[in-house]
Amino acid sequence: MTKDDQIAFEAALLARAAAVETLLRRLLDGRTLTGEIARPERLMAAMRHGVLNGGKRLRPFLVMESAALFGADGEAAMRVAAALECVHCYSLIHDDLPAMDDDDLRRGQPTVHKAFNEATAILAGDALLTLAFDILADEATALPAERRAALVLALARAAGAGGMVGGQTLDLEAERDRPDEAGIIRLQAMKTGALIRFACEAGAIITGAAPQDRDRLAEFGSAVGLAFQLADDLLDLTADASQMGKATGKDAAAGKATLVALHGANWARSQLHGLVKQAHELLEPYGEQAALLKAAASFVAIRNN
Ligand code: IPE
Ligand code: IPE
Ligand code: MG
Ligand code: MG
Ligand code: MG
Repeated sequence: MTKDDQIAFEAALLARAAAVETLLRRLLDGRTLTGEIARPERLMAAMRHGVLNGGKRLRPFLVMESAALFGADGEAAMRVAAALECVHCYSLIHDDLPAMDDDDLRRGQPTVHKAFNEATAILAGDALLTLAFDILADEATALPAERRAALVLALARAAGAGGMVGGQTLDLEAERDRPDEAGIIRLQAMKTGALIRFACEAGAIITGAAPQDRDRLAEFGSAVGLAFQLADDLLDLTADASQMGKATGKDAAAGKATLVALHGANWARSQLHGLVKQAHELLEPYGEQAALLKAAASFVAIRNN
């Protein structure tokens, strides 16, 4: 990636992040929606703490750019992006709980269970997961009903037992079961890859793109997702907490099953390079139109937080 491409990507990421945050702030205000009875203030505050705390918003970016690739750049794509970010933030709130990774710092701030308490953090995660499907199903996500249903289904499959939650389960079991390379790749494709894959596939669903385009974008998302976790595991080893906004050096200490632990940092770096190349090749058919998505894949490998 040239320096100019990187600058263009970073500006686009910031612009998309600001837009999706404005929407998230609105979705997380205290106002009740039709059918709701009341929104308890402390719960809403915990949800806002877990969402409006300065994430990179890479998944929303991938949703919006994949939709833009097929000609849609409006409010509907942004709502899908916000829904996915709610699932991602819930996954982080629960990942940080004492029963899971037991972390005190996230995005440079106290984790939700530290700032509030454990019960509130669990419930804030539950409510964010539910909110994601509310956002997708709501008519305000102005898409044909069958596309909204397809998004609900695809996000459910990506987030649930056969996707992110299943991957988190395997991740915890792996501390004891010591999976081999294929086992680690599978668990990472689930715990991290599934939501990133959904992010990229979502653009094709939003726009009703051809099945082969949907498959191609999903495959691109899978490569980016694996690269993303590989980079996260490398950063856990090499970066410090102030840079990352979260504790580092924990994977080795906890005996986490990562490819970095299995094959070392150099192997992981060359693997990362190969995954980014594969991601770029998948987008070749779209030419210049896909420049920002390609830059996003490169960013995953060079990011430093
Ligand atoms: C962190 O995701 C969790 C992993 C899947 C490794 P991000 O690095 O995207 O976290 P934020 O959203 O920018 O904080
Ligand atoms: C988290 O993986 C993946 C999910 C939250 C689903 P990690 O446990 O490595 O993420 P960090 O390092 O805490 O962000
Ligand atoms: Mg974890
Ligand atoms: Mg963690
Ligand atoms: Mg990590």
